[in-house]
Order: sequence, then structure tokens, then C-alpha cells
Amino acid sequence: MYSLLRHLLFRLPAETAHDLGLTGLDWAGQLFTRPPEALPVNLFGLNFPNPVGLAAGLDKNGDHIDTLLALGFGFIEIGTVTPKPQPGNPRPRMFRLPEAEAVINRMGFNNKGVRHLVRKVERSKAMQDQAVIGINIGKNKTTPNRNAVDDYLFCLEHVYPVASYITINISSPNTANLRELQHRDALLKLLGPLYERQQQLAGMHNRQVPLLVKLAPDLEQIQLDPIAEVIQQTQMQGVICGNTTISREGVDQLKFGQESGGLSGAPLKPKADSLLTAMRARLPDEIPIIGVGGITCGQDAVDKVQAGATLVQFYTGMIYTGPKLINDCVDSLRRLPSMTG
Ligand SMILES: Cc1cc2nc3c(=O)[nH]c(=O)nc-3n(C[C@H](O)[C@H](O)[C@H](O)COP(=O)(O)O)c2cc1C
Repeated sequence: MYSLLRHLLFRLPAETAHDLGLTGLDWAGQLFTRPPEALPVNLFGLNFPNPVGLAAGLDKNGDHIDTLLALGFGFIEIGTVTPKPQPGNPRPRMFRLPEAEAVINRMGFNNKGVRHLVRKVERSKAMQDQAVIGINIGKNKTTPNRNAVDDYLFCLEHVYPVASYITINISSPNTANLRELQHRDALLKLLGPLYERQQQLAGMHNRQVPLLVKLAPDLEQIQLDPIAEVIQQTQMQGVICGNTTISREGVDQLKFGQESGGLSGAPLKPKADSLLTAMRARLPDEIPIIGVGGITCGQDAVDKVQAGATLVQFYTGMIYTGPKLINDCVDSLRRLPSMTG
């Protein structure tokens, strides 16, 4: 069923197909789904029905929460959301590279602002059902890095009451200089205040919402030690490895291969997996990692778990394979003794 829909959608520009596909799912999502049997994971005090999640960026505004969860994802991450609404970069800003099962995007955090997203979560059935909804937060384009912490704090305070977990996104290549926040001093200045505010909010709301940090696969080895240190020092609860890459390895000869932005999908997998392995080696077991980047089949999800991920996510795989990929991943992970043991 999805292959037929894909055939039609791939005749359209990538972003139009994306919008239309989501609207179609809202109307007829059930036709594409056979949600997987449960493979429960308990993490951060949350009950994940299965360890396969939707990565951030597909539902930036929380407009499709119930539809996406009904497809069978064990959890979804919505956002990146910023304090104020912003249009993002001019179109076209999303490109399919089908020969490589890849996408290049330079969306630039287009979103309707944090207040809209929070309303959407509050009104979702998923929230009543206590489904796991992660919320990914960022800064507005016009906010300079020296004031970035204010934007993240603003988002943190607004999403805290409705989020299952919160992801601090400092790794998108499409907001100028954002990834500089991964440097030791900048990271400490950002994560320190976020941790303090999290503690205050936990007292106010009587609920501890975990903070996760999403990293870029383009980090140099030498940058990883300080990042791991700061993450522990500021008591972050988890890490997501990782975001899209600025590398064009494997796609530079393809149509759209030279478009600027972040590359995702199959060609990203080696880089994402090595970041995951490198961070796993540097962090204690109490800090779990979500593995994301280049999952195109069940075995790719298994690779991530074997490299040390506790949960996995994908986005580009939804474009090329559709919801069936959720079942493929859950079924493959079910065969791992570590998952059922
Ligand atoms: C069109 C598009 C938009 C994205 N937007 C975001 C975003 O807003 N925030 C974020 O943290 N990651 C974003 N991502 C990155 C994904 O969450 C994911 O980390 C990355 O695509 C690698 O996974 P994949 O290979 O399964 O797609 C986006 C990816 C794509 C393709």
C-alpha cells in the first residue's frame, strides 16, 4: 500500500509530498498500519511500548501526534520548536536523493512556536493515554548564541508540563552557528542553567522530566571527551546520536547531492553509528543513548542497539519505506536476547 502512495508522492517536490503525506495519514493512517506487538522498554521512568521512535523534525508543531503514534511507534519526538514562530529558510529546502535512500534538508526550524505545540500536545489523545512524547527544543534564528540559553529556558518552561522527555537540540546544521553550542564552555553555559531550571520545575510540577542532548555526527573525536564530561557534570539524563551530517560522502555525484543542508538516510549510518559507539564508550551506563541516523531496515536498528543504544529513532526511513519500517525494526529487535531478557 505504501509503495503505491510513495510512487505518487515522489512525483511531487519533497516538501509538498511531505505535507500531503501527513495529511493523508491523518485521514487514512489505519490503512497503512498493523502496529507491532509490544516490546516494552522502561527507561527514564517511562513505559515505552516498543523501542522504535519517530525522530524529530517530521512533526515540528505537534499537529499529527495521534496519527503518528497510531502507526505503531513506541514514542515520537516532536519539534524542533522555538520560542517564537518562524518561517524557516526559503523553499525549496528539502531534497530527495532516491538512489541513495537519502534526503538533504535545510528547513531552518520552520515552526509555529512553542505555545502552539504545547496546545497541540494538551489536546492530543496520546497525552491522556500517557503515550511517550518527547519534545525537541531550539533557539530562534534571530537570537544570537550569547542569548541562546534564554530561548532554551523559555521553551523548557513551556513544554515541561506536557513533555515525557525534552531534547536540547544543539546539532542542526541549518541554524547558523548553532553547533558551536557543542563546544565545552558554551555547552556548560547552556546545560548548567537548564539543569537548574529543570530541578525547580520538577519541584513545581512534582515530576522529573528527563533532559537529553542531541549531538551532531560531524563532531571531531577530540571534541567528544569534553562533551561527555559536561553532560555528566550537568547531570543530563540521556544523549541522542545524532543529527544530520554536512558530509556529502556517497552522494556528491547524485542529483541534489551538492545542495546545502543536512544529509540523512542510508549514507549517514556509518557516521551516526561511530558517534554512538564513541559516546557509549565515554558515558556511564546510567546515561542511555538513543541511536538515530540511517535506519533503513530492521538490521540497522539491531546495529544501533548492539553499538549501545537503548532506543532507536528514524525519520528518512519513513519517506522511503513508510510505516512498515516500524514493524521491521521491532521484529528484528525482538530477536535480540538483550531486548527480551
Ligand atoms: C526534513 C528533515 C527535518 C529535520 N528536522 C529536525 C529538527 O527539527 N530537529 C532535529 O533535532 N532533527 C531534525 N532532523 C533530523 C532527524 O531527527 C534525524 O536526526 C536525522 O534525519 C537522522 O535520522 P534518519 O537518517 O533516520 O533521517 C530532520 C531531518 C529531516 C530529514
